[in-house]
Amino acid sequence: MDQHELEQARRLDARGAFAWEKMMGRLAGKVAVVTGGVSGIAFGVVEMYVAEGANVIVADIQAQKGATLEQRFPGSVFFSPCDIRDESDIARTIAMAEEKFGGLDIVVHAAASVDHKQKIVDLTTEAWDDGQANLLRSHVMCIKHAVGPMEKRGGGSVVLISSAAAENFSPAASMVYVVCKGAVLYLARWAAFELSSSNIRVNAIVPGAYATSMWGQLVGASKDVADVMPEYLDEMMAGSQPLPKAGKPMDIAYAATFLGSDESRFVTGTQLAVDGGLSVFRPAVPREKVMAYLEDAKAQAEAELQQAG
Ligand SMILES: NC(=O)c1ccc[n+]([C@@H]2O[C@H](COP(=O)([O-])OP(=O)(O)OC[C@H]3O[C@@H](n4cnc5c(N)ncnc54)[C@H](O)[C@@H]3O)[C@@H](O)[C@H]2O)c1
Repeated sequence: MDQHELEQARRLDARGAFAWEKMMGRLAGKVAVVTGGVSGIAFGVVEMYVAEGANVIVADIQAQKGATLEQRFPGSVFFSPCDIRDESDIARTIAMAEEKFGGLDIVVHAAASVDHKQKIVDLTTEAWDDGQANLLRSHVMCIKHAVGPMEKRGGGSVVLISSAAAENFSPAASMVYVVCKGAVLYLARWAAFELSSSNIRVNAIVPGAYATSMWGQLVGASKDVADVMPEYLDEMMAGSQPLPKAGKPMDIAYAATFLGSDESRFVTGTQLAVDGGLSVFRPAVPREKVMAYLEDAKAQAEAELQQAG
């Protein structure tokens, strides 16, 4: 953009139109907390947030990967060891944003587990409590602890990661996962309502099928194997929705950048589906076929790791 264009953009901005120069760093000066950010979808969000000028606190239970991420983005990313089932870990993570970067503007809550596989008839109270602490209560707690710091900044943006499985049931999903991810959509609406007077926006992103290590949990893969499995999942993901390709972390990162930035300053309480059209149509793939594909991907990932020694 040359000087003349910049001047024009500034004039447009004064009239309340789009400020073009902000496109050069759409999150410049913003501080974000991204949970689950060492892996998969949220890792893509962290990469794009840093590229767009944000400073980021990454919260996750995988401490080794967190340390690697800090080294990759020195000064722009700090890691907070955090179990999202523990409110005090969430509170400490949010406080870290203020300590390290002087405030908080954005929370992207993506950390989640698909470990809770029981059907209703088999469900124990303990399994339900653990599942909803991970998949639902953590969302409430992220919002709760973000409110104070965001109010100090005059507002903020919370982005909750739900799932297309909540609305259009996946054969591979579990009851606890689907019910909690569905509740997250309602939570986004309620929180948007409750917090709008503080200029805090709350929106949900609804991902479709993404090749990430999360799928390994469904077939009991070790963490190392699960991390390699995404390489072998593209074909399955491509057949999971109308658009014949797998979603990539970058696709969610674009949506989370829009929702985190001032470009979405008048957007709250909404759901943004980034799902290749899954909300319109889910191809009928039997559960057995999905599980067989996942087992095959697991075997290929195990073989690759064995070969690598
Ligand atoms: N992959 C998909 O197809 C898909 C589809 C719909 C929704 N999603 C959602 O996208 C989000 C990101 O998932 P992903 O696919 O990138 O999976 P992923 O497994 O790559 O990432 C999940 C991250 O959450 C972390 N995590 C799990 N339990 C935690 C805990 N108790 N405390 C702190 N961190 C914890 C993991 O360590 C991991 O880094 C999740 O909310 C998931 O439900 C994924």
